Amino acid sequence: MQDKILNGREFSNTILDNLAREVAKCKRPPCLAVVLVGTNPASCVYVNNKKKACEKIGFTSKSFELPETTTQDQLLKIVHDLNQDKNVDGILVQMPLPKHLDSKLIIDNITPHKDVDGFHRYNIGSLALNDPQICPCTPHGVMYMLEKLNPTYHGLNAVVIGMSNIVGRPMALELINRGATVTICNSKTKNLAELCRHADLLIVGVGRPKMVKASWVKPGSIVIDIGMNRLDNGKLCGDVDFDEVLPIAGYITPVPGGVGLMTIAMLMQNTMHCYTKQFETTGAQ
Ligand code: GUN
Repeated sequence: MQDKILNGREFSNTILDNLAREVAKCKRPPCLAVVLVGTNPASCVYVNNKKKACEKIGFTSKSFELPETTTQDQLLKIVHDLNQDKNVDGILVQMPLPKHLDSKLIIDNITPHKDVDGFHRYNIGSLALNDPQICPCTPHGVMYMLEKLNPTYHGLNAVVIGMSNIVGRPMALELINRGATVTICNSKTKNLAELCRHADLLIVGVGRPKMVKASWVKPGSIVIDIGMNRLDNGKLCGDVDFDEVLPIAGYITPVPGGVGLMTIAMLMQNTMHCYTKQFETTGAQ
C-alpha cells in the first residue's frame, strides 16, 4: 500500500534542496513579499509556512500583517510600492481577503512578472493559451507529481472537481495543455460519482471532508486530493476518504503530507523564476 502513496514531503524536499543550492549562486537572496490582511486562522498558518520555507532555503521574506480594517487604497499602495521595489522579486497577497476588499482589483494591480501565485489575468490567460508564464502553485505542484508517474495524457480521462480560480480552473488548463480529456465538475454536478468512476485521473478540491468514497473511484486510477479540512476533533483531512480509497486507487495523495507541501515548493520555485527574470530584464542588484 505504501508505494501507492504519493509523498508530497519527499517531492517538495527535493525541490527545496535544489533551490537552496541555486540560492548560493545568486547575487542576492531572492525576496518574497507576503501580505496578509486580517486574522483568518487558516491564512495565518499558510502565511507562516510560506515564510518558514523562505527561511529554510535562504530566501528573504518581507511580511505585511495588516489589520482587518485595511482599506482598498491602503492595500493598493502597498502593492504598488512592492511592484516598484527592485529588492522584491515576488508578491503574494493571501486569499481570501476580507469582504470589503476587491480581490480581483488587487490581483490586477500586482505586476504580472512578480505574481508568484500566477493569479493575474495575464498569467492565467497565458496558461489558457498554452503559453505558460507563471503557473498557479497548487495545480503546478500536482503536475510535478504526475510527471514523476509518467502518465500518458493523450487519451487520459481526467475529472477535476472544483472550479476555483486558485485550483480547479488552472488545474483543468494544465491538463488540457497536455492533451488529457478533461471534465470539470463541481459539488452540484449530476451523476458526479458516475463521472468519477470513468476517471483515470481524479483531482478533487472542493472543501468537503471525505466526499469521494471508494465506490466513486476507478480501480488503479490516480487520485489527487487538494482538500484541506479541519474536523471537529482538530485533525486535518482531505476531500477523499483516504482509508476507503487507498486499496482501490493506483496512486493517491495523503492529507496532510500531499499536495499542500507541493504548493509551497512551487511558490518558492516561482519566486526563484521571478528573481532570475528580474535580473535578466533590469540587471537589478
Ligand atoms: N489561499 C489559498 N491558497 C492560496 C494560494 O496559493 N495563494 C494565495 N495568495 N492565497 C491562497
